[in-house]
Amino acid sequence: MTAEASVPIHPAVTDDVPALARLETAVMGADAWGEQALADELAGVPATRTVLVVEEAGGPVAYGVLRAVGQTAEVQRIVVHPSRQRHGLGGAVLRALTVNAQRRGCSELLLEVAADNAPARALYAAHGLVEIARRRGYYSAGRDALVLRRPLERRRPYGEPRA
Ligand SMILES: CC(C)(COP(=O)(O)OP(=O)(O)OC[C@H]1O[C@@H](n2cnc3c(N)ncnc32)[C@H](O)[C@@H]1OP(=O)(O)O)[C@@H](O)C(=O)NCCC(=O)NCCS
Repeated sequence: MTAEASVPIHPAVTDDVPALARLETAVMGADAWGEQALADELAGVPATRTVLVVEEAGGPVAYGVLRAVGQTAEVQRIVVHPSRQRHGLGGAVLRALTVNAQRRGCSELLLEVAADNAPARALYAAHGLVEIARRRGYYSAGRDALVLRRPLERRRPYGEPRA
């Protein structure tokens, strides 16, 4: 089910860090980013980072991180609370990060995903990301990583007036 049009997404602020760390722990377990790692990502906003949050009544339920350098934007993280997965939130975050990358003038979107992460691979495939490389044994326990890419069509950059 997708309900992207009504998803309330906003840029993360420093006050979101503790709740985002709890979300990380709930979803990513041993691989979770802690408060310091999250604060480091936020410190890169807006120069090289975009951090977007989906907030519901009880707090953040999903978030995503984009790193943009030159022509290349890379999705660093998309995390959705288990109780809210499969409701279009991950897709909404990915779409918003993609638009942000386009408005930054990036011409390609990259990301890395574990080869055995079927939900994430399905999400990314649905959004036009295709495999360009496999990194064997890249993750713990010898799991392979896949590098995915999507070329980006240009969008009007932030601050540029409409033609
Ligand atoms: C991967 C993840 C972000 C997907 O978020 P989500 O909000 O559940 O995804 P959406 O509801 O937007 O799904 C969009 C599409 O992706 C695909 N998809 C998502 N989860 C899927 C699953 N478990 N099985 C099969 N397809 C799936 C489907 O095509 C889905 O569309 P549909 O529901 O209309 O069929 C979420 O499962 C998650 O947080 N996983 C743990 C963290 C992680 O692995 N993040 C990615 C690497 S950092």
